[in-house]
Amino acid sequence: MRVEFTVNGERHTADDVWPGESLLYVLRERLGLPGSKNACEQGECGSCSVYLDDTLVCACLVAAGQANGRTVRTVEGLGHGGDLDPVQRAFLDAGAVQCGFCTPGLVVATHDLLHRIPDPTDAEIREALAGNLCRCTGYEMILDAVRVAAAELAR
Ligand code: FES
Ligand code: FES
Repeated sequence: MRVEFTVNGERHTADDVWPGESLLYVLRERLGLPGSKNACEQGECGSCSVYLDDTLVCACLVAAGQANGRTVRTVEGLGHGGDLDPVQRAFLDAGAVQCGFCTPGLVVATHDLLHRIPDPTDAEIREALAGNLCRCTGYEMILDAVRVAAAELAR
């Protein structure tokens, strides 16, 4: 099947997509966008988090055909004119990146959280990021990054 969709503001067409092919596979392997990570392929880790239209989804759980005619935004599409998005910058500034495998998904999930709840409580942060697993940081620096990003976006 052919899938035509908009990714990070650009129209894309993927041909010969098979029915079981995931949106994550198409993004990474056909469109050359490796930011969304493939860790579990079961919707358990959040490393593949992207926006589908304006809803946060695990790209590994979305069939590519479901994205036909729709809009996807990945971690590569969050920045502005070559500058990092404030959420991306906050993860660097807070030292919340170690191996980095979880980081793109956490950045997209944090971006979604802060656009829904600009000044989240710690409980709201933990709930929003509960689907994003990190094996390295112990999460405290990730919480710091979200607080830094919220403060920056409020300025
Ligand atoms: S790779 Fe999609 S949730 Fe883990
Ligand atoms: S920084 Fe390594 S899994 Fe999170």
